[in-house]
Amino acid sequence: MSASLDEIIIRYNPEAPLAEASTIPSAWYTDQRIFDLEKQTVFSRSWHVAARTDQLCAPGNFVTSEIAGEPIVVIRGHDDVVRGFFNVCRHHAAAVMTEAEGHANQMRCPYHGWTYSLEGELKGTPDFTDVCNFDRSRNGLVPVEIAEWESWLFARLATEQQPPLANPNASLAEFLGPEFVSQIQALGLTGLHWMERRRYTLDCNWKVFVDNYLDGGYHVPHLHKGLDSVLDYSNYTIENGAHFCLQSSPMVRGADDIQVGAVRSGQRALYYWLYPNFMINWYEGVLDTNLVRPLAIDRTEVIFDFYFADVSEASRERNLASIEVGDRIQQEDLDICESVQRGLRSRAYTAGRLSVRREAGEHLFHRLLYADLKAGVDALPIAKTLSEVS
Ligand code: FES
Ligand SMILES: [Fe+2]
Repeated sequence: MSASLDEIIIRYNPEAPLAEASTIPSAWYTDQRIFDLEKQTVFSRSWHVAARTDQLCAPGNFVTSEIAGEPIVVIRGHDDVVRGFFNVCRHHAAAVMTEAEGHANQMRCPYHGWTYSLEGELKGTPDFTDVCNFDRSRNGLVPVEIAEWESWLFARLATEQQPPLANPNASLAEFLGPEFVSQIQALGLTGLHWMERRRYTLDCNWKVFVDNYLDGGYHVPHLHKGLDSVLDYSNYTIENGAHFCLQSSPMVRGADDIQVGAVRSGQRALYYWLYPNFMINWYEGVLDTNLVRPLAIDRTEVIFDFYFADVSEASRERNLASIEVGDRIQQEDLDICESVQRGLRSRAYTAGRLSVRREAGEHLFHRLLYADLKAGVDALPIAKTLSEVS
């Protein structure tokens, strides 16, 4: 008989100090029940990037996305307020908005033509006159919490039936914490301009990509020779906050790799990770963000957005060269992540140890995950049911 969900979760010891800690168990990357529980906890009860603010600059502008399989739409109302809704028609559940982004005067479902105002109220229901006991005012789109911070709009899926776990009232600002907010504010990111988005799909669990990101540069000299030539690897630092980790490296001049050196300059590279799945990578005048989206237990999409201080025509070539360098580094990461996922499925591996010098960020990630999953399995009747039938 396979292990219960509780048993798999408590195989991880969150109390162990870094020098004694192991990684989370391999089953957390391969067991469908963990993936389902993550959707109900990690991805339902904390804040997730849903759109860029530049996409929603005018009333009627909207963005659709998915948070762990839940379709949502974020839209700016005629009253200039940005709202979020589950992008699920109250009639027969079709997606109301089908474009990735755009502009609309109302939200019209393509299936039977029900219409909703930009504020989410149900307005039009064709051929519905003889329907009894139907209260239009109770059939608006179901709202999702939205909060704006820096260049992004965050959404939280938690509903009345499923309140956030740790702190039901934690606002986005509380979740981010004052330290993280002030550090990011100091970078002046809102002065940068978005230029391009690239998407990558990987055959691995989403946590493999996050682990790879959080290994404190451990893999850089081995896997990213070009990047390694511009980073002062020995002076790489790792600092953990409550829900974030900053990995930082001084930059070196006279890089051997001319292509990388030409587009990665400045004093320091800053790599911020925000629990659970958002990364902010900053070089002087160059920013890219990574949003890690779980598609299946062993399939992940990572969305890269590239921003620059100067997006004029004169800077276009240099900016494109910078994106290409990011792309090259990403390809190197992609291959190793897929290799790790294959290894995690092997009977030869259950968990590994962590480098004290390098892997404090992973340690934080794993402890935060444990807290969410343990609280989830203890609190959610459905999670208990899943563990009982295994
Ligand atoms: S499902 Fe939207 S109108 Fe029928
Ligand atoms: Fe990497």
